[in-house]
Amino acid sequence: MPTTNDASPLPRREQFPADFRWGCATSAYQIEGGVELEGRGESIWDRFCQMPGRIRDGSSGAVACDHYQRWREDLDLAADLGLNSYRFSIAWPRVFPQGRGAVPNSAGLDFYSRLVDGLLERGIEPWPTLYHWDLPQALQDRGGWKHRDTVAAFAEYAAVLGRVLGDRVRNWTTHNEPWCSAFLGHREGVHAPGVQGWKSALQACHHILLSHGKATAALRAEVQDARVGIALSLHPCQPATASSQDAQAVQRHDGLRNRWFLDPLYGRGYPSDIWPLFGKNAPMVRHNDLQLIAAPIDFLGINYYFPETIKHVAGEGPLSAQVVHVEDVERTATDWEVCPQGMVRLLERVHRDYAPANIYLTENGACYDDEVAANGTILDLQRRSYLQRHVAAASECVARGMPLRGYFAWTLLDNFEWAEGYTRRFGLTHVDFKTQRRTLKASGNWYRDFLRLQLDEQ
Ligand code: FCB
Repeated sequence: MPTTNDASPLPRREQFPADFRWGCATSAYQIEGGVELEGRGESIWDRFCQMPGRIRDGSSGAVACDHYQRWREDLDLAADLGLNSYRFSIAWPRVFPQGRGAVPNSAGLDFYSRLVDGLLERGIEPWPTLYHWDLPQALQDRGGWKHRDTVAAFAEYAAVLGRVLGDRVRNWTTHNEPWCSAFLGHREGVHAPGVQGWKSALQACHHILLSHGKATAALRAEVQDARVGIALSLHPCQPATASSQDAQAVQRHDGLRNRWFLDPLYGRGYPSDIWPLFGKNAPMVRHNDLQLIAAPIDFLGINYYFPETIKHVAGEGPLSAQVVHVEDVERTATDWEVCPQGMVRLLERVHRDYAPANIYLTENGACYDDEVAANGTILDLQRRSYLQRHVAAASECVARGMPLRGYFAWTLLDNFEWAEGYTRRFGLTHVDFKTQRRTLKASGNWYRDFLRLQLDEQ
């Protein structure tokens, strides 16, 4: 494996504006546990984890990091790191155990209310995400995201949160990575609800985007100074060869991976170059839907992990495009290519083509097989280098005039990594899942020094 380029200069905090948001991101199902506590309803992930063979180690998020009960300790960790912002998600089944209803579950709402207060007390800005994949199972039983009624249910849920937290929360993210909800959940079936098919995926995707638009309006109606955005998983795409066929395959792949989300959000409708390729699987779109999806947003969240290399393969799905595995590049333990410059290229492109007023890197991080040394420390030098190089790439974006306003490392704690269970660790903090003991890793220590020491020096 090629070695990491540790010779590049380390980033410094003063390369960023003083009001830059520095955070970590987490999500409810991955850390909370306590799935039966205080009236929480079942989610599609609880159900999915029970299906044999779906989760690599047969586990679930039933306990996870037990954050539902240990949140104070976890917020202390966040404060100790020197974060000024914290991105977390709200579990819809805690708020509406049956997905919707006249009266929300007050115990569930109280948890998030306490969490928000706990953050503010520690000087940390709360950045909630309304949907990070844990749909109430009761809504799935009625068709889930494939069914248009789920859109209205999401807007009701958003309104309730706006009403309850809007006096203390300013920055709202509607959805996390709709590509994953739609395509991993409804085409490949490797995520909940485990459905397979293009038609389901494209329809679910449309409803998710529509629900983003409606939730944006609902939040604005409830919270006067709300800043609303969405977090997309975006990938810079490059051709496998210099052939014109591969160049066209990149266009098509990019059409679904990136433009299928960005275009409608920025008022251009679905990409007309690839829409016809879906034939009868294209989604049902009603009059006015695209206008609702294009509701102006205050910021674009980008989750950046890796670039993709694409080649033309006739008949490979409707797009005749395939992601190829490039040899001789640096990779993480999940086999994701490490490419900080890809992040710069991606932001440059988004800035040029869509001109969002504000961009936040709402997730960026890496999985490595951590080893706990005899003295209990975790010297995750590869993750530390990954973090340093991506923060340096973020500083390049700022220096080049892109409207990048914040960076959220994925993730505060090792956690339940979806279909990979507990076999994959992305945390800046190690979690011993037997004892729930938290230990800051070398990567976390560096982030802490970067955020705290350099600030103290100023
Ligand atoms: C992102 C997800 C997040 C986590 C990281 C590794 O796609 O948003 O929950 O799984 O990948």
